[in-house]
Amino acid sequence: MSAVEALLAVPESPSQSFEVRPLDAPFGAEILGLDLSRPLNAEDFASVHHAHLVHGLLVFRDQHITPEQHIAFSRRFGELQIHVLKQFLLAGHPEVFIISNIVENGQPIGLGDAGKFWHSDLSYKELPSLGSMLYAQELPEEGGDTLFASQQQAFETLPAELRQAIESKHAAHSYTARYADEVFTGIHRPTLTAAQLAEVKAVVHPVVRTHPETGRKGLFVNENFTTHIEGLAEDESRALLAELFAHSARPEFVYRHKWQPHDLLFWDNRALIHLATGCPSHLRRRMHRTTIQGDAPF
Ligand code: OGA
Ligand code: MN
Repeated sequence: MSAVEALLAVPESPSQSFEVRPLDAPFGAEILGLDLSRPLNAEDFASVHHAHLVHGLLVFRDQHITPEQHIAFSRRFGELQIHVLKQFLLAGHPEVFIISNIVENGQPIGLGDAGKFWHSDLSYKELPSLGSMLYAQELPEEGGDTLFASQQQAFETLPAELRQAIESKHAAHSYTARYADEVFTGIHRPTLTAAQLAEVKAVVHPVVRTHPETGRKGLFVNENFTTHIEGLAEDESRALLAELFAHSARPEFVYRHKWQPHDLLFWDNRALIHLATGCPSHLRRRMHRTTIQGDAPF
């Protein structure tokens, strides 16, 4: 290396030694001993990227990172998406969406009932999310678990006729489909403004998507945002979706995450759906989410 090259070279941080330990679950792995407050070098990043593709959900334990570090780590995987509910974005860091049941001075500080129906984040966008990183800030003593279900396992275990019947179908997704349905008591969602509504026009995606990095196929419909299957009569579409939704969350595809303080979860929205179970309303829960943009599903 010449003297000039040596000056220009960006010093790579040393590799960290960390463990990828598969969860006792249908998918997912814990990442132990990795410090996300330090920029990952290319080798460590490649290991994390690989683990994410293989396991679908990564549970990074014991993280102590700032919003800037959370954003920086997320950005390694792609562009970040800014949530349509601007009132719940972290001040100064719109890439961070606050999910919380906490009310301060009469105002909710975050979306209180995010994930009340099974869903894949931002499936209602032309470019849905590749993955989300949800970082625990304040956890309730009781409840607040998050469920995840593998849509690849769900697809692979469908009866062959059903698999064939849906493989070339497309379905519409809309943010507003169940926006105002209240299932967690006491939480009222803010009314969407005209500008917000314009940001979330309905989109159409294949019912079965091929993972752009692994090639594995998975179901890509969900009870939160999918309104109907194109080209079917309304009752047929409703019946087929009900069948797919019931199958997609069967217990054998599900992992239940019980949050530990300082957990950061990174899941693959192209392969999994997830569901918030909620917590008693007198207990405080606050989470920070970044959302990485993915490809148009095919
Ligand atoms: C999300 C979400 C569920 C939860 O962050 O996208 O759906 O349990 N969260 O907070
Ligand atoms: Mn979600």
